[in-house]
Amino acid sequence: MGELAVLILAAGKGTRMKSDLVKVLHPVAGSPMLFYPLDLSRILKPSRLVVVVGFQADLVQARFKAEDLTFALQKEQLGTGHAVLAASPALQGFHGTVLILSGDVPLLTEGTTRNFLQSHRDRQAILSVMTVELENPRGYGRVFRNADGSLLRIVEDKDLKPGEEKVREINSGIYSVDADFLFSALSHVTPQNAQREYYLTDIVALANKEKKRVFPFRVEDSLEVMGINSRVELAKANQVMRKRIAEQHMLEGVTLIDPETTYIDREVKIGQDTVIYPNCHLLGKTTLGAGCVIEPGCKVSNTQVGSQVIIKASSVISESRIEDHVEVGPFAHLRPGTQLREGSKIGNFVEVKKSLIGKGTKANHLAYIGDATLGEKINVGAGTITCNYDGKKKHATVIENGVFIGSNTSLVAPVKISRNAFIGAGSTITKEVPPNTLAVARGKQVHYRRRS
Ligand code: UD1
Ligand code: MG
Repeated sequence: MGELAVLILAAGKGTRMKSDLVKVLHPVAGSPMLFYPLDLSRILKPSRLVVVVGFQADLVQARFKAEDLTFALQKEQLGTGHAVLAASPALQGFHGTVLILSGDVPLLTEGTTRNFLQSHRDRQAILSVMTVELENPRGYGRVFRNADGSLLRIVEDKDLKPGEEKVREINSGIYSVDADFLFSALSHVTPQNAQREYYLTDIVALANKEKKRVFPFRVEDSLEVMGINSRVELAKANQVMRKRIAEQHMLEGVTLIDPETTYIDREVKIGQDTVIYPNCHLLGKTTLGAGCVIEPGCKVSNTQVGSQVIIKASSVISESRIEDHVEVGPFAHLRPGTQLREGSKIGNFVEVKKSLIGKGTKANHLAYIGDATLGEKINVGAGTITCNYDGKKKHATVIENGVFIGSNTSLVAPVKISRNAFIGAGSTITKEVPPNTLAVARGKQVHYRRRS
């Protein structure tokens, strides 16, 4: 077969998505759907990789810009044949096989693609088309075969003649084609059809006319070649992708109590013997170490979690770092910039933002810790608040090792509580507290006796 080039069509708006965002940037398991055909292409190590962009081309390019890929701009979207022609400058001088993929077909696997390319090679075809049989083929281009099983032509749904719509084998939009034939055939394609578009599919009939070898390659699993046209298919693709991801984690030693209600993004990494309860969302570039327990209803995004960590029910965590043997929740909120050192504990209804919590330090109940640096073995009493905002600026709080903060304390930042200090419950601290000192800053309790 010689050299391989991969061409991905991604210029269409995706009208049926009814969205302001170009279709190929809608996410599947946390990554834009175009990521998947691109990833698959790279596994095949093509000598050229071209993505045809058009609608919101700048957004797509900004997201996927890379040295190994060329973007071809299709200014007006006049059909799939026209889209391939837009890539001809990028394929100048290339005479091998072009694998054409669609940016809106994210579930295609490496195995099927390799089998497809192998069959193309084995049959010495000039053109191979991946097809599938569908219960309901409406909307797709239909496949017509010659008596010997080779491919005769593809007719778009809107161009079918009466009776032809019952053909159930459809064109998946994935092709393997000889580059020289591809561009010479496309120069003959005209938009004389129901949609007034340049159909890439017309090259099938042209190949037949030239007595070239054209074959369909039928796959069994229609989900693999499912094109995403509406949000109904988007949901379906997410479901299938999530199932694949969940199974991969389970095979690698992660317990998912209920994989169907566990939402794990593509880039998430999870250590062995970690147990994840239902309704958890592990998003973005989150990593979990070994032997963790994530209780029901937690959402963890872009966070690095060590080993033997327990995240109790209904906690929400984003852009944080959590070391080994930490306990969080239930109902904790860790916001961006939170760092929890080994053995620390953040309990129920505690919110932490942009703060460092030192080794063995505990804030077990009802507290707000923002813009603060806490040392080791500190006890933060219930109802403690760092008053970090004066209406204009954020200010820092520093709490040194061994401090005990009594319940319902307000720490008015900027402020420092030095090592081993002890704050009496209900204090409003506005001045630095020296080391080894008891600070009490509250109204004295007064008793007035009843007269009668
Ligand atoms: C196409 C096929 C149809 C097949 C179906 C499979 C043609 C004429 N028809 O139809 O036989 O059954 O896919 O899903 O090829 N695109 C561009 N520029 C354009 C038009 C489309 O880049 O001018 C891209 C789209 O972004 C998309 C892909 O090509 O990634 C397919 O386009 P789409 O409009 O979805 O084609 P279908 O009508 O689904
Ligand atoms: Mg489509």
